[in-house]
This record gives sequence, C-alpha cells and structure tokens, in this order.
Amino acid sequence: MIVMGIESSCDETGVGVVDWDGEKATLLADEVASSVDEHARYGGVVPEVASRAHLQAMVPTMTRAREAADIDRPDAIAVTIGPGLAGALLVGVAAAKAYALAWDVPLYAVNHLGGHVAVDTLEHGPMPSSVALLVSGGHTHLLGIDDLSRPIVEMGTTVDDAAGEAFDKVARLLDLPYPGGPSVDAIARDGDPTAIAFPRGMTGPRDAPFDFSFSGLKTAVARYVEGRVRAGHDVSVPDVAASFQEAVADVLTAKAIRACQTRDVTTLVLGGGATANSRIRSMAQERTAAAGIDLRVPRPRLCTDNGVMVAALGAHVIGGGAPASPLTVATDPGMSV
Ligand code: KG4
Ligand code: ZN
Repeated sequence: MIVMGIESSCDETGVGVVDWDGEKATLLADEVASSVDEHARYGGVVPEVASRAHLQAMVPTMTRAREAADIDRPDAIAVTIGPGLAGALLVGVAAAKAYALAWDVPLYAVNHLGGHVAVDTLEHGPMPSSVALLVSGGHTHLLGIDDLSRPIVEMGTTVDDAAGEAFDKVARLLDLPYPGGPSVDAIARDGDPTAIAFPRGMTGPRDAPFDFSFSGLKTAVARYVEGRVRAGHDVSVPDVAASFQEAVADVLTAKAIRACQTRDVTTLVLGGGATANSRIRSMAQERTAAAGIDLRVPRPRLCTDNGVMVAALGAHVIGGGAPASPLTVATDPGMSV
C-alpha cells in the first residue's frame, strides 16, 4: 500500500511517500521545501509568511514527490492536522482534501508529534514499547509509546519555552545567526561546557519529574552576559554557548532516562530538529549506554519536519484499522498527543 504524507505545520512544506507492507514502511520519496530563509530576517517563524510559502510550494513539492516515488497517485493520504500554526496547517489540510477527492483515495488526519516518533521506523524497523524525547523549535515532549497505531501517552512537556526555542533565543542574545540551534552548536565546539554553572530547570524534588522549563535558563544566560558587559569584562561566546548547551542536554537526557526507567522500557527514541544537536546526541549516547537502554536516533534529515514522518505514522494508523477521516476534518493547532 502506497501512503502519502503531507506536512505543513510550521515552515516546512513536506510531501513524503512510503510503501507499507503491513508491518514496515519503506521510504519512496521525501520532498521538502523550506521557508526558513524568509523568516531569518525576523529572527523567528512568521506565521503569515509561512502560510503563503506553503501555498506556493505545495503543488510543486507534491509533483516532485510523485516523480521521485514514480507513482501517479497513492492508495491513501495522511496529513498533519496539528499541533502547529493555524494558517500553515490549513494549507496542507486543504491540499490533502483536494487530492483525496480528486484521486478518490481515503484521507487520514494525524498528529505531528506522533509523526516525529513514527519516522524512526523507516530507519530502524518496528518499534518496541519505548519512550520518545521530542525536541524542536515548537515542542519538547517526553512520550510513552506502546503501539504507533494507538494514541501516545504524554509523560511530560515544557511549561514554557521549547528546547529549540531556547537555543534560538540564546543565539539572538549572543548575536549568532538564525536559526540559532546550529549556530550555538557550532560555536560551542570551541567552548568549555563547565565554564559557567547555568541552572537546570525543573529538577527539584517537588518538580514534575518529566516536565521541562527553559525560560529560567534563558534568563540566566541574559543576566550573565549583561553582568559581564556591565563590569567591563569580555564575554566568551563559545564558553556561554557550550555551558548553555550542556545545561539543556543534561536536563533532557536525565529526564528521558528516568522516563524509560519509570515505564520499564529499554528503548529511547529521539526526534525533532534539535536532536541534530551534537551534545544532546553525545550525552544521550553516553547515558543510555550506561543505563542499558537502546538509543534510536533517525538521521538528521528525518528528525526535522518532513512529509515522510506523516506518511509513516499514517501507515501505522491504517495498519491498526482506524477509519478514514471525513473530508470535513478540521485542523487542530493546539492538538495534544
Ligand atoms: O523540528 P524542526 O525542524 O522544526 C520545528 O520546530 O518543528 O526544529 C527546528 C528547531 C529550531 O529551533 C532549531 O534552532 C533547532 O531545531 N535546531 C537545533 C540544531 N539544529 C536545529 N538546536 C540545537 N542544535 C542544533 N544543532
Ligand atoms: Zn516538528
């Protein structure tokens, strides 16, 4: 069965195609058009700009995906209905409905976060019961997964900023280019991660064990930089970047390991654009190895937003026997897992 996935929740227009054999999805096409360059001068994603870019990119991206997969039409279409930017989601959902109607194929509305988890099966095969740590510009979640065709359990999330958002804000503070994550990651390579003891948010004994908070950390970085400047001292940008990154990686990986132990599972899956971060990856590798946990990390291209993740989740949902969605299905910008 050929399943197409359409993604438009943020600034990536994605159309992916997978072949589903009832157990495993195989990647046939992965076409993405990003409007990231258009947002760069604003220092963050501008919803209106993202929506317009989706409208322009959708049909060409669809055409490229059909050519790459060498198909005329799929057997089913899956589309992200949330969570995400309201206007951006509308473009993908409207396109998915139009194609489903024109091709007379069923439509399946899916959750973006589930897609970030399901995409891992394309590289590493069927997924056992596990915990997923999703970190991107829009989300920071610890999820409990038993069966990808069934609803996912939310174990915890951020109470303020997403992890990637914290990277983007700290990058701006340090005058590093947008998107901030890759810039912080690059400059941190020349810094000392132990130079500054930044706070680890939500790690007190009375804090929710699987929730996160990054706004205090961002404020701590701002105060540190301001204090140095006021006192007439230099600011070592590599040291600040490395110490900040260390604090984020520390909290994310410690809570993820604890979540695995609490659920009594031995598989941790990483997903979302910020898992491209070299320190989050290396710390996750070190700590999972020490705890006897298997770590599954999709390649960076699959960790960022794309259409294949939607197709992969759609395939599992179809495999689980879910009914198709009506063509009246709405978007759900604030959708939880
Ligand atoms: O998943 P994604 O492409 O889009 C969504 O936000 O849904 O993730 C983008 C986010 C941005 O905040 C970006 O700064 C962050 O992921 N990111 C990184 C790195 N690469 C991307 N954060 C830290 N280190 C990186 N190497
Ligand atoms: Zn995402």
